[in-house]
Amino acid sequence: MSSYPRLCCSFATKPSKVGVQYHNACYRALGLDYTYVAFGVSDLPSAVQSLRTLDIRGCGVTMPFKEMVLPYLDRLDPVAARIKSVNTIVNDDGQLTGYNVDWYGARQALQEVTVLDGKTAVVVGAGGASRAVIYALVSSGAKVDLYNRSVDRAQALANEFGLLPAHPLDELPRVGHYDILVNATSVGYKAPEESIVPETILRPGAVLLDIVAEPLETLLMRQARARGMIVVPGYRMRLLQAAEQFRLYTGVDAPLAVMERALIEATGT
Ligand code: ATR
Repeated sequence: MSSYPRLCCSFATKPSKVGVQYHNACYRALGLDYTYVAFGVSDLPSAVQSLRTLDIRGCGVTMPFKEMVLPYLDRLDPVAARIKSVNTIVNDDGQLTGYNVDWYGARQALQEVTVLDGKTAVVVGAGGASRAVIYALVSSGAKVDLYNRSVDRAQALANEFGLLPAHPLDELPRVGHYDILVNATSVGYKAPEESIVPETILRPGAVLLDIVAEPLETLLMRQARARGMIVVPGYRMRLLQAAEQFRLYTGVDAPLAVMERALIEATGT
């Protein structure tokens, strides 16, 4: 752990207060001499160079920078290289390493409620978040069946991860047996009355992960609960990835209860 004040930050097109609140709440709770700030970034290469120039310890990266940032880093963690997406940069004496901890958050959040090995998962969505979720599932021994509005995009992803042939969204109402259902699309984000998953396919006793973290409770989560599903809310995935990010930056475990309270407060306001 460093003995001098350190700065961590996030890069987004529009700065968000959520990470600022939960990272700083944890630094205060543990008495760490760290500060976290959010930057709105328009020139990504210059912003990445500034991490070295200003000796900023760590940086969270959100869309659309998660893929764009790869060429500007010195090293890639092997999983980030596999997923081709970076959401966390760690600066060790000017050497920038890119990590992806979204997959870790997804795996941990699911493993809190179920065993993944041998399970069948239906994943809806084929964007960047979906890549991390698919990696979490496949690397834990689950079988993934992929559905997406743009089937070509989904098929490319299915080929890359060795999945079964991908399906267009209109086949979702005829989905077969599954143990785990994941909404990995952005549908429902800041839209508490929107869902693209038909209510008829929600199975009692199966697990639902909705990666949407804002609002804390989406329409899909409410419908799944009503149908007797085990619901893993997107904020849990966000929280667990943030805890891993915190550990990478500071070398110590995040105080999870403090982080969760701050995340819920910041998201809910
Ligand atoms: P992210 O990196 O957050 O996953 P993304 O790469 O833009 O963001 O991917 C968003 C996902 O949500 C995609 O699967 C997208 O479907 P397409 O690949 O067909 O674009 C899906 N998505 C977004 N809005 C949607 C909508 N209104 N209906 C169906 N799918 C939608």
